[in-house]
Amino acid sequence: MKRVLFWLITFAAILGACLTNGEAAEQPPPQYAKLPVPATLDAPETIAAGRAIFAANCVSCHGSQGDGAGSVHPQFGPAPADLTGLEQAKVNTPQYLFWRVSEGGRVEPFLSRGSIMPAWKHHLTEEERWQVVAYIRWLAR
Ligand code: HEC
Repeated sequence: MKRVLFWLITFAAILGACLTNGEAAEQPPPQYAKLPVPATLDAPETIAAGRAIFAANCVSCHGSQGDGAGSVHPQFGPAPADLTGLEQAKVNTPQYLFWRVSEGGRVEPFLSRGSIMPAWKHHLTEEERWQVVAYIRWLAR
């Protein structure tokens, strides 16, 4: 019996390690991870520009406060993220946020989860996407 328990625990530990590894896959690919961050990212004007872009494009899902309480509730897949409660690791990596805004739920692992987050690279310029990233960082400060 003890032996069975030992193997059960070992198996659970390996499974746990695999699952944690899966989360580590939520990393921007090199073409995003290596992007230089604009020097003016945290300037008040950048944040203000981002706030306007957010109001025009993001509040329907993420809510006017950015807390995920918008009027759009997906039938399936993940709920719109609470951008005020983002993990600090994400906030501190502007490239992560820029990647998520640019590609949305069109890339793995978010695609398989059924994410309805749009890929904003088709609608917003690079400058506009950095501005909205600045606003998200300000929201989660
Ligand atoms: C149609 C609904 C919808 C709209 C509009 C939308 N989002 Fe999202 N967004 C989502 C959903 C659902 C998620 C959670 C699933 C995911 O991470 O892909 C999400 C996730 C995110 C994330 C990732 C958070 C994390 O922890 O990784 C960021 C950043 C984000 N959205 C920013 C924005 C910005 C900026 C805009 C506007 C330019 C926007 N979203 C517009 C639905 C939307």
